Amino acid sequence: MFPNILERVCPGQRPQLGAGWGAHCSMRSHCRLHSYWSESGGCRALLSCAAMGQGWAAPGLPCLLLLLLCCGCPLLVPGQGTTRQVTVSQTTTSQTTTSSQTTTSLTTTHQTTTSSPKTQSPNLVSDETEASKFVEEYDRISQVVLNQYAEANWNYNTNITSEGSKMLLEMSTQMANHTVKYGTWARKFDVTNFQNATVKRMIKKIQDLERAALPVKELEEYNQILLDLETKYSVASVCYANGTCLQLEPDLSNLMATSRNYEELLWAWKGWRDKVGRAILPHFPRYVELTNKAARLNGYVDGGDSWRSMYEMPFLEHDLEQLFQQLQPLYLHLHAYVRRALYRHYGPEHINLEGPIPAHLLGNMWAQSWSNIYDLVVPFPSAPRMDVTEAMIKQGWTPQRIFKEADNFFTSLGLLPVPPEFWNKSMLEKPTDGREVVCHASAWDFFNGKDFRIKQCTSVNMEDLVVAHHEMGHIQYFMQYKDLPVTFREGANPGFHEAIGDVLALSVTTPKHLYNINLLSSEDGGYEEDINFLMKMALDKIAFVPFSYLVDQWRWRVFDRSITKENYNQEWWSLRLKYQGLCPPVARSQGDFDPGAKFHIPSSVPYIRYFISFIIQFQFHEALCQAAGHQGPLHKCDIYQSKEAGKRLADAMKLGFSQPWPEAMKLITGQPNMSASAIMTYFKPLLDWLQTENGRHGETLGWPQYNWTPNSARLEGSLLGTGRVNFLGLNLEEQQARVGQWVLLFLGVTLLVATLGLTQRLFSVRHHSLHQPHRGPQFGSEVELRHS
Ligand SMILES: *[C@@H]1O[C@H](CO)[C@@H](O)[C@H](O)[C@H]1NC(C)=O
Ligand SMILES: *[C@@H]1O[C@H](CO)[C@@H](O)[C@H](O)[C@H]1NC(C)=O
Ligand SMILES: *[C@@H]1O[C@H](CO)[C@@H](O)[C@H](O)[C@H]1NC(C)=O
Ligand SMILES: *[C@@H]1O[C@H](CO)[C@@H](O)[C@H](O)[C@H]1NC(C)=O
Ligand SMILES: *[C@@H]1O[C@H](CO)[C@@H](O)[C@H](O)[C@H]1NC(C)=O
Ligand SMILES: *[C@@H]1O[C@H](CO)[C@@H](O)[C@H](O)[C@H]1NC(C)=O
Ligand SMILES: [Zn+2]
Repeated sequence: MFPNILERVCPGQRPQLGAGWGAHCSMRSHCRLHSYWSESGGCRALLSCAAMGQGWAAPGLPCLLLLLLCCGCPLLVPGQGTTRQVTVSQTTTSQTTTSSQTTTSLTTTHQTTTSSPKTQSPNLVSDETEASKFVEEYDRISQVVLNQYAEANWNYNTNITSEGSKMLLEMSTQMANHTVKYGTWARKFDVTNFQNATVKRMIKKIQDLERAALPVKELEEYNQILLDLETKYSVASVCYANGTCLQLEPDLSNLMATSRNYEELLWAWKGWRDKVGRAILPHFPRYVELTNKAARLNGYVDGGDSWRSMYEMPFLEHDLEQLFQQLQPLYLHLHAYVRRALYRHYGPEHINLEGPIPAHLLGNMWAQSWSNIYDLVVPFPSAPRMDVTEAMIKQGWTPQRIFKEADNFFTSLGLLPVPPEFWNKSMLEKPTDGREVVCHASAWDFFNGKDFRIKQCTSVNMEDLVVAHHEMGHIQYFMQYKDLPVTFREGANPGFHEAIGDVLALSVTTPKHLYNINLLSSEDGGYEEDINFLMKMALDKIAFVPFSYLVDQWRWRVFDRSITKENYNQEWWSLRLKYQGLCPPVARSQGDFDPGAKFHIPSSVPYIRYFISFIIQFQFHEALCQAAGHQGPLHKCDIYQSKEAGKRLADAMKLGFSQPWPEAMKLITGQPNMSASAIMTYFKPLLDWLQTENGRHGETLGWPQYNWTPNSARLEGSLLGTGRVNFLGLNLEEQQARVGQWVLLFLGVTLLVATLGLTQRLFSVRHHSLHQPHRGPQFGSEVELRHS
């Protein structure tokens, strides 16, 4: 949105500073004020903050991991929205030009970059022809190095052995050597006056060294930690007393999805966290330290800052908060409705109708998607249900068949079919030969323009039908941008990469399409079937919104140190309570590390991309449906066989990362902004229905009894002996809890006032039948929980 900040400085004008910006920057160590002409005309200001004397930034190494796009990779793209590169790079560059390009000398460089920024070095190269040659060579060599790294990484991920890990670490070193060599070289160029914007963007990106910026010893340590974390997660299992052990995929996931027994679910939920979370915890503080150090060496304030820079949006956090707030009404209504259904099933001893929901009852290990408890919440049980798992099994679907179906949908839009090699090189099922593998589904680019693979432990069910489309969306993106320079073979932003396959899945899962591919027996059953369908979708798409929002709220604050290791778990649960309205079903303590029990935390994959993806995929869907000539409600649209829709997607994908993402957004939707209006339009009929239904029950929205804990947590808590109490499901020192209670009391009052507005809005939309619509504070509204 602010593509040319550095280039379009407003001469001689004092820019207007927006309110709140000063506060934003005062946390940082070194702030600069920049002005630029906004697109709407007029001079605007941009504050950028740089840690003094820090080195540089560059996306190279982990982005090799960019193959891991499903789960993605920490791609550190230097944000054009800030100028720290300019300030900082000159220092580093002037020093690196005098040193040789080995890793060791770079280490030395880092230690000497603490001097204050100097004026531009005379040694900087501003010859554009030379830069073009450099970029060409970088591209040629990178394809080879990235390919070798991807192969080693694939081998390890599909066959976890110690030889494999040795090979992978060696390749990591080679990759780092490569990144350092070319990153250092790239920093010798002064791109300020380059005419060719492509070359300029590439060089800026190559200048970011990512983790390769770390001194050699620390880089080795970091790679080892990352490997250990992911491996601990992937090989973990939970065992019964009789010695039978369950792995996450498919055993524990199936149990969480299908069991309706409170104690059994609790066993799996707690067992997984006891096993994985506790194993991850000891390594995590060091991981945080090294991530931050690498980020600082690349000119960012901390790890979170470098992750956010991928979006090239100076006000990312603010913009996301706005999107989140727009979706709040829908989530609160869904939450209240589902809580009522759980109350019916599990009873008042387990569910409080005015409190948070115990986190293990929602059909998913992390309560991030609730569609597995569709049977408990189905609005119209007698109308056709939308789960086609049974039909798939009955018809003998295989994982292969699922992916063929997805491939067929892509080609129906005029998009590319996967190459033949895809089918015999991918791992579409969990191996049965005893190999340990990383089961978490992912799509891989091997950077040679023809080798693309998926690794997924596919089960035959509807959820995996959707996941298969998701992964195939990544593959399609890889294929569309395969002719771009390696530097640009990425999504317009990480959220785009996540959204493509989901957009197709929005069509595939419509009753109309499922009927056409013979998975549903009737095509259109009218209103009741419609609401059933939208409920099923909401259990996936709306339930996920607060979860996808909070994961990186937590990590960003871990990186900026406002969450310390003593508070890791406590703060995690504060966010889970605040945003999702969930509480832990058993007492938690400092020794637990529940964030670590979610794949993306040990694998160091940023998560906000999924939040963004869930917003923009509905924008894409709306625009493509229009292009396809769809008439009628958005949720009934199926873009199957629309070449016009396919072309819009292809055009956007072909851009890769060569331009800021609003350009790609324009190609698909005709305008440059993210917006929550499409997702709200899609779910409008369901929101109307939920408002009536919740009104009928006099349902309380939110969770005013926020510190209620389920019996299961109280029992555990009381066993813990003297001096410790259970507060918010957290096991705390009494003193800490007392402080917490005062904080909550204060917040409660603040929330009470602040949520009046929201409540007013929610209930004035249509329904007046709720008794006492506002009964107390609601977490999950616009007021921040304060953390000391
Ligand atoms: C910019 O440089 C790239 C790479 O060298 C080249 O392919 C492209 O044609 C150039 N663009 C212009 C407008 O000169
Ligand atoms: C897994 O790796 C081991 C050790 O490198 C190797 O001996 C074995 O053949 C591999 N298994 C498969 C199925 O590739
Ligand atoms: C990486 O660079 C170091 C130092 O130059 C060298 O010793 C090492 O062999 C290189 N490793 C690889 C895998 O290229
Ligand atoms: C162990 O116990 C579990 C749960 O009670 C049961 O499902 C499983 O079959 C048992 N395994 C053996 C080997 O007895
Ligand atoms: C993989 O597929 C290609 C193209 O269909 C075929 O030529 C090759 O022999 C296959 N390889 C294996 C190992 O099946
Ligand atoms: C996009 O957002 C910007 C900033 O909020 C706004 O000024 C502009 O009008 C929006 N554009 C469209 C087409 O909505
Ligand atoms: Zn993905």
